[in-house]
Amino acid sequence: MTLPPLQVDIERLTSELERLATFSDCPEPPPAVTRVVFSETDLRARAYLGELYADAGLQVWVDPIGNTFARWQGSDPQAPAVGTGSHTDAIPHAGMYDGTVGVLGGLEAIRTLQRAGFVPRRSMDVVMFTSEEPTRFGIGCTGSRALAGLLSPEKMQNLLDAEGDNYDIVRQRAGFTGELSEIPLSQDHYHAWVELHIEQGPLLERSRIPIGVVTAIAAPATAVFHVAGIGGHAGGVLMPGRRDALCAAAEMVVAIERLALETGGADLVATVGQLEVHPGAVNSIPSRARFTLDLRDIDGTNRDRLLTAMTDATLAIATRRQVDLTFELLNADPPASSDETILTAIRAACRDSQLEFQEMISRAYHDTLFMARVVPMGMIFIPCRGGVSHRPDEFSTPEQIAAGVEVLARTLAALAGG
Ligand code: GLV
Ligand code: MN
Ligand code: MN
Repeated sequence: MTLPPLQVDIERLTSELERLATFSDCPEPPPAVTRVVFSETDLRARAYLGELYADAGLQVWVDPIGNTFARWQGSDPQAPAVGTGSHTDAIPHAGMYDGTVGVLGGLEAIRTLQRAGFVPRRSMDVVMFTSEEPTRFGIGCTGSRALAGLLSPEKMQNLLDAEGDNYDIVRQRAGFTGELSEIPLSQDHYHAWVELHIEQGPLLERSRIPIGVVTAIAAPATAVFHVAGIGGHAGGVLMPGRRDALCAAAEMVVAIERLALETGGADLVATVGQLEVHPGAVNSIPSRARFTLDLRDIDGTNRDRLLTAMTDATLAIATRRQVDLTFELLNADPPASSDETILTAIRAACRDSQLEFQEMISRAYHDTLFMARVVPMGMIFIPCRGGVSHRPDEFSTPEQIAAGVEVLARTLAALAGG
């Protein structure tokens, strides 16, 4: 399809990204961002997005858990729509581009097509998914999981935050009501799905290529380990025979790292990102420790094999150190492959934009991993400085973002038809 020349308004998009970053609970000024799902700050950020959607003349619909759909109606409103989008929640002390580039960039892709006078046949949606990040409830992508029919109302009631409040209660308290059974999308709801995201890795920057075409998303698993030992007075209890829960956990963490290094494939990554110690006093032997494991691989079978090896190794350490170990698997999701039709549309959009591209996999997970269950999908990556993400110094240049938005706009136009 030949489109008129596209002019991405990168100044406007940059100022919107900067403004969105001000909705933050991080004590440091932006670009450090903390925006946890269903917090006051999340709600204020959502209200800001609502103003932008209204300004672009989009029709907005919010589902019972806050997934927000902003639609540019096509000339054939009955035809399944084309969707794009991402998330705006941010892990503690994060940056300002993860997810937001896909939401505000998706909106700017639509505005760019509107300005060019394009009239889509299929409607185009920008979706802002609730809670891509696992910060509050332990698992990520709760919004897209629910849309794909993978998060039942019962499971939502079992997902607890640090206060012990369940997902269902918290979403209602945040003002999101309605029947949970209405959330899942039918298989023919969307015709095609494309997410724009920063790479969160170093490859594009290293090869000086502006666009990554994502062919597959790695399979993530999350587990929680609870270690119970015997506490006591740091001065009174002699060293031999101690059952220190933290020392046991420390050995387990190192064993996990060793297994990932020694027996994983090139794309296997394992991270222990949380470690809590009870009672957490300087002069008290830790009686309990809790730590998380985030394990990913593009090969789901290898991921599962490593997960078993890691649980076996930690159990052996627990036995030798005479501590109790219990293990909870929060999620173990399969990988997803991009659809060939969508990949073809993205590659053509890159050529039409005269932008070089590179094919790659995503080790980060994205809502698109779950959208893949209900719609053919693809993803567009742009470089980020040093491959850095989940840190305040996460950064993509306006030019890099504009290139991603242009490719997204062309891809959406091709998939929607005009
Ligand atoms: C998403 O934020 C991820 O952790 O991959
Ligand atoms: Mn993230
Ligand atoms: Mn993200």
